[in-house]
Amino acid sequence: MSKQDTFYITTPIYYVNDVPHIGHAYTTIAADVLARYWRLRGRDVFFLTGLDEHGQKVQQAAAKAGIDPQAHCDKLAPQFQDLWKRLNISNNAFIRTTDVQHKSIVQQYLQYLFDKQLIYKADYTGWYCTFDERFWTEKDVVGGLCPDCKRSVEQLSEHNYFFKMGQYQDRLIDHIKQHPHFIRPESRRNEVLGFLTTQKLSDLSISRPKSRLSWGIELPFDKNYVTYVWFDALVNYVSALEYLPQQKPAGNRFWPANVHLVGKDILTTHAVYWSTMLMALNMPLPETIFAHGWWTVDGEKMSKSRGNVVDPNKMAETYGVDAFRYFVLREVPFGQDGDFSEPGMARRINSDLANGIGNLLSRTLTMIDRNCNGLIPHVPQGYLELESQKYPRLLFAKNQLRLLGNSLEKFFGNLEFNDLLLQITSRVTDIDVFIDEHEPWKLVKDPDKRSELNAVLYTAAECLRILSLYISPFMPSTARGIAEQLGLDTNFDAPLLEQEFEWGKLQGGAKIRKGNALFPRIEVPKPQGAKIVSESPAPSPPIPAASTTTAIPSTALAAPTPAAPAQITIDDFMKIQLKTAKVLSAERVPKSEKLLKLQVSLGTEQRQIVAGIGKKYEPESLVGKTIVIVANLKPAKLMGIESQGMVLAAGDSEVRGLATILEEVDPGTKVK
Ligand code: MSP
Repeated sequence: MSKQDTFYITTPIYYVNDVPHIGHAYTTIAADVLARYWRLRGRDVFFLTGLDEHGQKVQQAAAKAGIDPQAHCDKLAPQFQDLWKRLNISNNAFIRTTDVQHKSIVQQYLQYLFDKQLIYKADYTGWYCTFDERFWTEKDVVGGLCPDCKRSVEQLSEHNYFFKMGQYQDRLIDHIKQHPHFIRPESRRNEVLGFLTTQKLSDLSISRPKSRLSWGIELPFDKNYVTYVWFDALVNYVSALEYLPQQKPAGNRFWPANVHLVGKDILTTHAVYWSTMLMALNMPLPETIFAHGWWTVDGEKMSKSRGNVVDPNKMAETYGVDAFRYFVLREVPFGQDGDFSEPGMARRINSDLANGIGNLLSRTLTMIDRNCNGLIPHVPQGYLELESQKYPRLLFAKNQLRLLGNSLEKFFGNLEFNDLLLQITSRVTDIDVFIDEHEPWKLVKDPDKRSELNAVLYTAAECLRILSLYISPFMPSTARGIAEQLGLDTNFDAPLLEQEFEWGKLQGGAKIRKGNALFPRIEVPKPQGAKIVSESPAPSPPIPAASTTTAIPSTALAAPTPAAPAQITIDDFMKIQLKTAKVLSAERVPKSEKLLKLQVSLGTEQRQIVAGIGKKYEPESLVGKTIVIVANLKPAKLMGIESQGMVLAAGDSEVRGLATILEEVDPGTKVK
């Protein structure tokens, strides 16, 4: 089996100094998505996660709990393992650095480097940060504080063992330059290169005297020392291959790793320490180290002292596992920082999942149930192409889906989760649009329109089947749910044949099994600390969900977009849904003079609308007003913010006034 046929993905191994939080869940979910995708594509995947159980942080946490460090680790480890089960994480192995096999491999490596004189003993005096467990030089320390965590440092002098990291500086620079995908994203690669090309890389202290820290792996050549926790921890990526995979030997099969996923804070330890350790050990370097961004919570740094640590267990319980998995990867481009808020998550779930794919499945299956006796309608092979004049929208949706299918490898290969999910929600909107345009509820009344009805319903169902394959790495249970309701028993955990991705696998005449809603709509919690908010109604019925951003140009397979005629018929006008909406809150869009972000109520649902009325109105003056909006406009992004509709206003280049209703009417009332 060649390296092309395998895929080795790792997460950092997490410190067991506390219970898991959203940061841990984030990396692990992302790794799971990649693992699931490559398994689906037939690669032999090894997905490793685990725990970093040694070092000062763990020793201190155990001391605080008043128990022995090993007992502390044994007590906390199941919290991580249970969370991964709950979040449907498909890791193949779980390493703990207190595993005897791991400890022995770390000692073998230390001895090897010591024998090769790549580890030496020296005196060292420096500023020591207990929290970060590392020394800083004079120039790093400002005002007696650690430059990293800003805690006080103390001057320490001790004998220590050093790894000759500095001698690999040029080789590392060359490697990074020659392998553009070694450190990703690009901005992080530039950071590391910038630092390596402007500063001298020093040697790395890889020991700690037992007098100061006893909880670690003993140096095989000096029993008065344990090894630095990072030397121990980084080795996990190769030691695990020696004893955890069921099929052995696994080392050559899986090493070098395809992707080490890490947070941006631990990029240096991976890109510099780990890479030079591997060079010294004569082992190949991983293909990619990808550093993702950090989550803040309601705009603030997440920390125990602030009491805002997000518990993934609670999120999964409240919002559902798949919805949580979806949210963290949809909300922010992977690699960038993001802000987490529960109202934001609830709104995203309602708009993209409940009103998006969930509603699409439900409406499609209800129509098949009612109008086709619950059987997938028959449509002759190639029918859409043959009748392309008659059904351009159906063909468009089908072709766009195929194009997206062709790009999956690129999206997953580049870890562009957020772009892919955006594409998927746009495809859901396409399907909703063609259903609305064909109005199956009218077709059913006309026996001559039976073939059109069949074509519409079959196309919707087949699109859903294909979408279930695309979303399965992100939302495995949802994918299974869609397949089951369509009457299929697809196994998303095993490699799928290429034909499964092709059009027409759904068999006419097969019985559907309509079930419960995939994503029940969620009440949006009140935003914390919001300034201008009058009320927060429960969200509800279907709205077209996704943003219109398309990486695949729609012109490639453009459905005809008629030019606006001088006059339109009443039927044309009736396509535009105008509704009253009550402004719940309003705020300025940062860095824009013109744009306001409004939260509006349509009675049974809440929408976010970005409107170019900021020169005319102060946000406060709009709260409580009833305005008129175009309710069925395809959502779009303005300065990166999603707008789910458009406000009607008088004026041309300059806004002169807002369209309002003279009398008091309920929000959500139709305007015609
Ligand atoms: N034990 C080391 C890793 C050793 S890997 C050989 C470690 N552990 S950790 O538990 O402190 O952190 C693990 C991961 O959580 C890091 O990748 C870190 O970036 C991530 N996160 C911690 N807080 C985070 C956020 N607020 N947001 C996103 N990820 C964050 O470091």
